[in-house]
Amino acid sequence: MRVLIAGANGKVGKHVVRLLSESGHEALAMIRDEAQSGDIRDLGGTPIVADLEGDISNTAEGCDAVVFTAGGGPGSGAEKKETVDRQGAVKLIEAAKESGVSLYVMVSAMGAADPASGSEGMQPYLFAKARADEALRESGLDYTIVRPGRLTNEPGTGRVEAAENLGRRAEIPREDVARAIVATLEAQSTSGKTFELLSGDVPIEDAIARL
Ligand SMILES: NC(=O)c1ccc[n+]([C@@H]2O[C@H](COP(=O)([O-])OP(=O)(O)OC[C@H]3O[C@@H](n4cnc5c(N)ncnc54)[C@H](OP(=O)(O)O)[C@@H]3O)[C@@H](O)[C@H]2O)c1
Repeated sequence: MRVLIAGANGKVGKHVVRLLSESGHEALAMIRDEAQSGDIRDLGGTPIVADLEGDISNTAEGCDAVVFTAGGGPGSGAEKKETVDRQGAVKLIEAAKESGVSLYVMVSAMGAADPASGSEGMQPYLFAKARADEALRESGLDYTIVRPGRLTNEPGTGRVEAAENLGRRAEIPREDVARAIVATLEAQSTSGKTFELLSGDVPIEDAIARL
């Protein structure tokens, strides 16, 4: 598969680029800065320079799928949550449609199921994520929305727990989120599904197959 990854230079994104490439797929890595190209190539990806706050039309040309794992980041204010986390995800929906790409995997967040219950500081982020998810559900694309818990930089274990509503809050290594994204793309069995994702006991491919 040829997969466009928005947020490819991020911590989850780099794992996605490497894992896709290791599995024989073409990882088209959207980066904002040409200087990041070397790192992307070292991971086996193909860099494409574009900014989600600018024009990203045509970036999905020739792709089989797109992945959104970008974000303004924890240090960013409400404005970036709007322009990157929400509008950026919506721009990727438009770019996918323009190029006839039907498969879209969104990295959302656990609290996006009920953004109003988040802390005051988290609400701009959670509402942006929830609105992006809603736009994707209404897009007509063949979507999967992944809602991981708090991300850590621990090495992945290859084992997770995944369900529409896990009913608890916990953590998951970024590497396991990336593996779940790749498993979702390869299985293509989760169309129209939204699921929460935490560390657990089930091998990732099995957890995805059971959704
Ligand atoms: N942190 C958590 O606990 C948590 C929990 C659940 C879900 N999530 C979500 O998981 C996803 C991945 O998280 P992460 O930790 O890997 O994030 P990250 O390391 O902060 O990566 C985010 C990436 O988005 C890119 N980006 C920001 N603005 C952009 C723009 N205007 N155009 C193009 N790219 C842009 C950044 O580019 P640069 O490298 O150039 O800065 C960065 O590479 C995010 O969607 C995040 O919201 C996070």
